Amino acid sequence: MHPSGTLRIHELTAEERTVYSTLKPECLPEHVAIIMDGNGRWAGRRSLKRFLGHQQGAKSVQLVTETASRIGLPWLTLYAFSLENNLRRPRAEVSFLMRLLKSYLESNVQRMMDNNVRIRYIGRTHELPPEVQDKMRWAEETTAENTGTTLTLALNYGGRSELVDAFRGLAAEVKNKNLTPDRISEEDIHRHLYTAHMPDPDLLIRTSGEMRISNYLLWQIAYTEIFVTERLWPDFRGIHLLEAIADYQRRERRYGGLGESGGEVEDHPERIKIVAG
Ligand code: FPP
Repeated sequence: MHPSGTLRIHELTAEERTVYSTLKPECLPEHVAIIMDGNGRWAGRRSLKRFLGHQQGAKSVQLVTETASRIGLPWLTLYAFSLENNLRRPRAEVSFLMRLLKSYLESNVQRMMDNNVRIRYIGRTHELPPEVQDKMRWAEETTAENTGTTLTLALNYGGRSELVDAFRGLAAEVKNKNLTPDRISEEDIHRHLYTAHMPDPDLLIRTSGEMRISNYLLWQIAYTEIFVTERLWPDFRGIHLLEAIADYQRRERRYGGLGESGGEVEDHPERIKIVAG
C-alpha cells in the first residue's frame, strides 16, 4: 500500500518527469534498498580526499530520498554504515562518518519534514557513539508523524549479525516457553528481524558496479530484483532511481514459480532419461 496523498509528481525535475512518464504507477516497487558504494573512488578520480566523497554521498542521500518521496515510494532503505565499515576502516574515517551522519541529520531534518519523510534506523545502533545516538533519536522523534516515505538508514548493520540477534530473540522465546523449536516458522524469524515492520525489498540497487551483496539484508532479499549500475554513489540522483525502477518494471518476478509466460513446460526426452537413469 502506498502512503496516502503523498504523490508530488509536479515537484520532479523535467528530466525526472520524462522517465516517470514511462513508468506504470500501479506497479511501483513498495520498497527499494540501496547499497551506496563508490564514495572513495569518486573522490580518488578527482584527486580529492575520501572524506569529500562521503560528503558528496550524503548529498545524494538527501536528493534521492526527496525524489522517492515525490513518487510516493513507501520504503527506502540505505546501507549507510556496515558493521564491517566500523571494524575495518581507519578510526579517522569512522569518526568522520559519524560526524557526517550527525551533521546530515542536523541539516536535513527540516527538509524531511517538508517532504513528509520519516526517518528510522536498523542495525546495532546502540554501539554507536552516544552523541550520534542522541541526534538519531531526535531526528526519528521529530519525523515520527510523517506519513510519506520511510527512510531507513542501516547503521552499524550486518545481515548475519541481524540473524544472530533474531535467533537470540527466538531462543529467549523458547526458553520462556512461548515457542517450541519444532514450531519455529519463517514468520517467527521475520518477527525478530530489524525489518519486521516493513515489506521485503522489491528492488536492490548497488552503485559502482560490484556484483556483491556485502552482508546486506540477507534474509529479506530472497526474491528481490537486483540492479547494479556503474555510476558511483556521489553521482547518483533521483533520475537514476527512476531509471532503475523502469528497468525493474521490465522484469518478470516469479518467486520460484513459472510466471505469466511459463505455463507450458515440455518434458525434454533427455532430461527424462537422466532422471530415470
Ligand atoms: C561506500 O563508499 C560508502 C560508505 C562507506 C557508506 C555510505 C556513506 C555515505 C553515503 C555517506 C554518509 C551517509 C549519510 C546517511 C550521512 P566507499 O568508501 O566504500 O567507496 P569505495 O569503494 O569507492 O572506496
